[in-house]
Amino acid sequence: MRTVLVGIGGWGKNHARILSKLGVLTAICDTDSKKAKDFGKKYSVNHYESVDKLLNLEEFDSAFVCTPTLTHFEIASKIILSKKNVFIEKPMTYRTDEGEKLLELSRKNNVVLSCGYIERFNPAVKFVKECVTSKKFGDLIMLEFHRENRMPLHIKDAGVIHDTSVHDIDTAMWLFDSPPNVVFARAGKINHEHEDFATIMLGFKNEKVAIISSNWVTPTKVRNFNAVFTDGIISGNFLTQEIKIEKKNETEIPRIENIEPLKLEIENFLASTEKKQELVVKPEQSVNVTKIAEAALLSSQKGTPIYLDLK
Ligand SMILES: NC(=O)c1ccc[n+]([C@@H]2O[C@H](COP(=O)([O-])OP(=O)(O)OC[C@H]3O[C@@H](n4cnc5c(N)ncnc54)[C@H](O)[C@@H]3O)[C@@H](O)[C@H]2O)c1
Repeated sequence: MRTVLVGIGGWGKNHARILSKLGVLTAICDTDSKKAKDFGKKYSVNHYESVDKLLNLEEFDSAFVCTPTLTHFEIASKIILSKKNVFIEKPMTYRTDEGEKLLELSRKNNVVLSCGYIERFNPAVKFVKECVTSKKFGDLIMLEFHRENRMPLHIKDAGVIHDTSVHDIDTAMWLFDSPPNVVFARAGKINHEHEDFATIMLGFKNEKVAIISSNWVTPTKVRNFNAVFTDGIISGNFLTQEIKIEKKNETEIPRIENIEPLKLEIENFLASTEKKQELVVKPEQSVNVTKIAEAALLSSQKGTPIYLDLK
């Protein structure tokens, strides 16, 4: 299996490390020629400064796209048209119509398309998902997410909703196993060009709800969630992967094995391209995340709820 990485910035470096360890990395492409050359040398693989050169000169099966959000659509379209599988970092695209176009292209060209909604592979979230399925603590009725930290001002192409809240929008849909039917949001900006704080309420069927608070203002890194079930509450930390279960008269802290979610995510994508595993993050679901992010922005601009009919 031969894979290439497009974009070796802050996050792409992690993909490169894992792909190289798995023995499947064959080339790195970055428009920053120094980065492309340095990392090509570091991992002893070919390096390119443009996607066009990569597609013309390199033989490969799958590409990982870790470039800024606004570039995802153009880069991924070219890769799909060359009949290669593509994993795109989150959000899959900035706009819904672009996501729908990629979906259509991937079907026409018979390639696997997925997106980096990594929290599904976080052992703490997996634990909650298993509790939802087994009904160990009854029914899941409410989710609450806090994802906060001061972000550098260099992110210019997206606000906190498309960049950060999307993780929790995806996780909420994954845990409730359905898309929301209504979105209400308030958002504003303090330091960035786009919104840098947002609170989003997603309404699901049977009055179930997810509240998503994201900001680039809080000085410390916060990555927490609460999952309220009818018979207990699970609180968790996405970073430490620790969870706590509170029931009527007892508190339990289960031991969870710490695993790097990115490794599991990459392995699932690669296995799905060989039809050895079912793809966990389906492209249709990633398009829905973008639709909800757009609805959240619209809701905050209009000051009204936005009703959705998602499949
Ligand atoms: N899953 C996660 O937890 C997570 C975390 C951080 C970032 N991300 C996502 O990863 C992506 C990249 O984020 P980042 O923080 O690494 O950004 P970054 O700005 O640090 O790096 C982006 C890299 O892409 C390169 N690049 C830009 N345009 C290119 C093009 N047309 N062709 C090839 N290379 C190009 C840049 O030179 C840079 O090296 C974004 O989609 C972001 O949302 C995901």
